[in-house]
Amino acid sequence: MLTHKGTVQIESERLVLRRFHVSDVREAYDVWMSDPRVSLFMRWQAHKDVEETRKLIETWISQYSNPAFYQWAITLKETGELIGAIGLVTINEHDACADVGYCLGQRYWGSGYMTEALSAVLCYAFSQVGFNRMETYHSVDNPGSGRVMEKAGMHYEGLARQKYRSNRGLEDVKMYAALKDEYLR
Ligand SMILES: CC(C)(COP(=O)(O)OP(=O)(O)OC[C@H]1O[C@@H](n2cnc3c(N)ncnc32)[C@H](O)[C@@H]1OP(=O)(O)O)[C@@H](O)C(=O)NCCC(=O)NCCS
Repeated sequence: MLTHKGTVQIESERLVLRRFHVSDVREAYDVWMSDPRVSLFMRWQAHKDVEETRKLIETWISQYSNPAFYQWAITLKETGELIGAIGLVTINEHDACADVGYCLGQRYWGSGYMTEALSAVLCYAFSQVGFNRMETYHSVDNPGSGRVMEKAGMHYEGLARQKYRSNRGLEDVKMYAALKDEYLR
């Protein structure tokens, strides 16, 4: 049984994961949502104008009243800068399982931020909500994301061919997962 708690604030060493606000629109657009390099392996296309970002963030904000909706803004504790997003994409209640999606502005890549954010979300999902299994996957051509999964304590489970359509076309992906008992041990 899951005990949904929604997008509550989570803190880690250098990060604060919090809900998005309307005032984040411009920064989110500038930092990653308008960047085709960030969206290359994603299902969504880089936003062409800030109104697209506004609509998306407003949709997320309107869902925060749903305790089973999880979409965090990733911010730096020290400066408050908005650097990316992380959320639970699909939740399977019956199996107590969910998959995680994330992206970060290019200027913040390579500092371990997403490893820190993913670790914090996994810990929250297992210890606070009661998920048993958390999954994620990445394109075989996006190995940096695989490193994030490994460093966050997820285990490689295999290759799924043509699993999803990114901006490049159908992607073969490497699947990763973590289990509650294993993770919290
Ligand atoms: C993938 C992404 C989330 C990584 O975030 P990040 O904060 O830079 O990740 P971290 O710094 O925590 O870790 C990245 C790791 O990948 C490694 N890496 C980066 N590019 C790599 C590559 N081409 N091949 C192998 N490893 C790579 C880094 O060296 C680092 O590992 P290390 O600490 O052992 O050196 C970020 O680049 C991003 O948002 N990309 C665009 C969106 C995206 O691809 N989202 C994921 C979809 S599955």
